[in-house]
Amino acid sequence: IRLHMEGTLTARDKVGVQDFVLLDAYTSESAFVDNLRKRFSENLIYTYIGTLLVSVNPYQELGIYTMSQMELYQGVNFFELPPHVYAIADNAYRMMCSELNNHFILISGESGAGKTEASKKILQYFAVTCPMTQSLQIARDRLLLSNPVLEAFGNAKTLRNDNSSRFGKYMDIQFDFQGIPVGGHIISYLIEKSRVVYQNHGERNFHIFYQLLAGGEEERLAYLGLERDPQLYKYLSQGHCAKESSINDKNDWKTVSNAFSVIDFTEGDLENLFGIIASVLHLGNVGFEGDDQGCATIPDTHEIKWIAKLLGVHSSILLEALTHRKIEAKTEEVICPLTLELSVYARDAMAKAVYGRTFTWLVNKINSSLVNKGINTIDFTKKTVIGLLDIYGFEVFDKNGFEQFCINYCNEKLQQLLIERTLKAEQTEYEMEGIEWEPIQYFNNKIICDLVEERHKGIISILDEECIRPGPATDLSFLEKLEEKVGKHAHFETRKLAGPKGRKRIGWMEFRLLHYAGEVTYCTKGFLEKNNDLLYRHLKEVLCKSTNSILRECFLVAELENRRRPPTVGTQFKNSLSSLLEILISKEPSYIRCIKPNERKEPSKFDDFLVRHQIKYLGLMEHLRVRRAGFAYRRKYEHFLQRYKSLCPDTWPHWCGPPAEGVERLIKYIGYKPEEYKLGNSRTKIFIRFPRTLFATEDAFEFSKHQLVARIQATYKGCQERREYARKRQAAIKLETYWRGALARREAERRKWAVQIIRKFIKGFIYRNKPLCPDNEEFVVFVRKNYILNLRYHIPKTVLDRSWLRPPGILESASDLLRKMCTRNLVRKYCRGITVECKAMMQQKVVTSEIFRGKKEGYAESLKQPFANSRIDEEDINPKVLQLIGHEKIQYGIPVIKYDRKGFKARQRQLILTQKAAYVVELAKIKQKIEYSALKGVSTSNLSDGILVIHVSPEDNKQKGDVVLQCEHVFEAVTKLIMLVKKENIVNVVQGSLQFYISPGKEGTIAFNTGPEEQVYKDKNGQLTVVSGCVWRE
Ligand SMILES: Nc1ncnc2c1ncn2[C@@H]1O[C@H](COP(=O)(O)OP(=O)(O)OP(=O)(O)O)[C@@H](O)[C@H]1O
Ligand SMILES: [Mg+2]
Repeated sequence: IRLHMEGTLTARDKVGVQDFVLLDAYTSESAFVDNLRKRFSENLIYTYIGTLLVSVNPYQELGIYTMSQMELYQGVNFFELPPHVYAIADNAYRMMCSELNNHFILISGESGAGKTEASKKILQYFAVTCPMTQSLQIARDRLLLSNPVLEAFGNAKTLRNDNSSRFGKYMDIQFDFQGIPVGGHIISYLIEKSRVVYQNHGERNFHIFYQLLAGGEEERLAYLGLERDPQLYKYLSQGHCAKESSINDKNDWKTVSNAFSVIDFTEGDLENLFGIIASVLHLGNVGFEGDDQGCATIPDTHEIKWIAKLLGVHSSILLEALTHRKIEAKTEEVICPLTLELSVYARDAMAKAVYGRTFTWLVNKINSSLVNKGINTIDFTKKTVIGLLDIYGFEVFDKNGFEQFCINYCNEKLQQLLIERTLKAEQTEYEMEGIEWEPIQYFNNKIICDLVEERHKGIISILDEECIRPGPATDLSFLEKLEEKVGKHAHFETRKLAGPKGRKRIGWMEFRLLHYAGEVTYCTKGFLEKNNDLLYRHLKEVLCKSTNSILRECFLVAELENRRRPPTVGTQFKNSLSSLLEILISKEPSYIRCIKPNERKEPSKFDDFLVRHQIKYLGLMEHLRVRRAGFAYRRKYEHFLQRYKSLCPDTWPHWCGPPAEGVERLIKYIGYKPEEYKLGNSRTKIFIRFPRTLFATEDAFEFSKHQLVARIQATYKGCQERREYARKRQAAIKLETYWRGALARREAERRKWAVQIIRKFIKGFIYRNKPLCPDNEEFVVFVRKNYILNLRYHIPKTVLDRSWLRPPGILESASDLLRKMCTRNLVRKYCRGITVECKAMMQQKVVTSEIFRGKKEGYAESLKQPFANSRIDEEDINPKVLQLIGHEKIQYGIPVIKYDRKGFKARQRQLILTQKAAYVVELAKIKQKIEYSALKGVSTSNLSDGILVIHVSPEDNKQKGDVVLQCEHVFEAVTKLIMLVKKENIVNVVQGSLQFYISPGKEGTIAFNTGPEEQVYKDKNGQLTVVSGCVWRE
């Protein structure tokens, strides 16, 4: 909202200023009109002059009267929002509530300028925004609904306005101490009665006639003796526009009927009321004819009968009253017939009187329904009011009559009030703030008011005098009287009095007044008649006797008995005006000035000439001058500081000291020159002399606003992000907490489970050797299972692998069984996998084992070496040898070294074994043949040497002696040999040395030693010494 504050100031080039006091050229009417036009073209129809609101009729719906708009203006500082009629209403209301005083809002302007609309908007604003209690809703509804009823009876279509108010209206809205609207009161002024009997071309009678005909129920119309067609009624058809497209009489009838029911009208009241309305229509159709003497007669009494019925009078008496006149001569009454012309006058006078007084009755009736019934129960003293004055504005037509005279007089009076009040208010403010008051020139229109209203000397008095004067008084004689009595007045002119120049512009029957708003020429024609507003006594008598209760209230017998002349219309009006001013003077004023932008009721059309004219007549320039006397702008320190505090670092963002000091600091900082401003002494307001100073400040503010906005945005965004971050963080923490909790619970669960398992395990372990029971059952099963499962990975892969997984105690026997089964299985598998050759070799190895196991070094290592079938291929055996022994079938052959008998020389030989014998072969020669039968034994050492000695019988002469051989595969060679020999226990493994026969009968010794180097040699004793390496090598 603060941003709105005078926000349009910044766009002033485009939409003008929203307060005229900010116009630099405040004395220029053109600048004024320009500003209005600029704003109007942007659909900104409201502009201020200080606290006065200027409103231009938009002639279109602008959507500025919505609920949200009402809420917007509620309780907001007056200048903070763009000008609006709601701001005026709200301001008055707030002031009333806070200061407990009375207010009025004066709405003025030309016909069609929007006064009635403005007053309705204000009423609506109060109805919607004021606090309300259930019980007081009816009061509010009545206040609102009194409008359509009054408009039906008091408004009519004119050339200027389709819904022109033909009476002045002052409405008090009463509020209780809580600011709740509790009741109201309406005063009406000068209803235009002449309209009842005559309308100009293009105009209509009061709405209610047409509404009744268009919307009234059949029975009602029948009862009233009416037809639907308005053309049938003289009083409705003179303007030739009974049907008007912009007006929906039928709908309006519904609204009015509904309103009647709310504002306390009984069916009897309505019957009487519409009886009167209908009788006026019938009256209009009463026709007169002149008889021979020129007296009026009524040939057709049809209408008279209807009137008599509806008004409850005798038809014959009515008929007489319409055509005759009672003249009182001293003590007796004489009845004399009326001329045709006078009868018509009498008829119309009756119609006007009846309608006019009925209207007054209606207003009174509405008032009685608006009276706050709870007045006694609620604190009466605290009741305050806001008055709404919707009154005709200054009127200047081509021909101006008595009505315009009254209306313009009324405006003179109100202008006087306004000038006095504004000037006074201005002066008091300056005095209060201790600022020097510079007297300003303004036109004091008291002189004109006096010209019109002064007792005995004023125009109204002169008119009254002329009316009661015996003898032939005419409008012309009245004019002459005026010339005589006020001819010297500076503001009065007639054709006769004007100089030769002005003469042409004034007619013979006219006089001219120089009003504050300009000069107006009035035609005196009809002044006397209208001022008199005469209703023949005869007719009055008839009406007094009416059985229609409304009429009886309107025409009191007392009036007949009172012999004094009733006050004239002019005087009545003067008196009611002075009492209105008394009402207003005691209240605080607000003003709304309505302007109509063009004569054609068109939207978006702005007629400069027309507007200029109204500005003049509404005295707006005058008002602006008064407001601008001295200072263009004034604002309470708080408000000024609140708006501009961002321009000074000392006052931004908060000023904690008194606002006055803040303002001082602020303006010092932005560099106001001393002549540009004044600070009020009573420490409430700052006054700025020139608009440009304010605009410069405003521009600076606009600039700083953008920076501030950016900063605020940044801060806000930062704040938002932080909030968002904190939110996410919280969420993350929560999630984490929950997840951790879940994990921990899961872990606890797991541990609990583990503890149980471990406990069970331990218990099982303790009882493991006991017979199977619940305590150890699972443990045992587990141990078994575990052992079996583990065993999978430790099963021996070969028969030789003797390893076995150590079983737990309870499984020892099972383990043994398993182990056996496993071994058996391995053995079986092994056995199945053994080939014939392999088997044979195995058997040989068994033999080797029997011979050498544990006896000769190198045996263990030899086990790994598979035995070959033969170490010599047959090709390597000399063919000769083959030929010699081939038939014996060679079983095995191996290269050997033979140590010969003489000197133990080492010779390369082959040892070849057949089925029958062993041969020592040197190339093609068989060096020795040992038949197995002759073989006595075989000796080896226990060391790792490859020496083998084949013993033969020493006695056998066929043999050369024992053979000493050395070969690489000594185990293999010995085994093969033994198996072929087929004798047991013939292998001798010796230690130390062995004896053998070098040749039959000659013994030799072989000594076996160990040493660092393997060698075989003949030692000095003639023995063969065999030294084996410490580590046996093949
Ligand atoms: N604020 C507004 N917004 C839209 N239309 C408006 C507004 N004010 C007036 N009008 C239009 O102008 C017409 C005349 O307005 P209104 O009856 O208030 O004039 P007035 O000043 O009361 O005239 P009169 O003196 O003849 O009674 C309304 O019927 C309406 O159509
Ligand atoms: Mg009006």
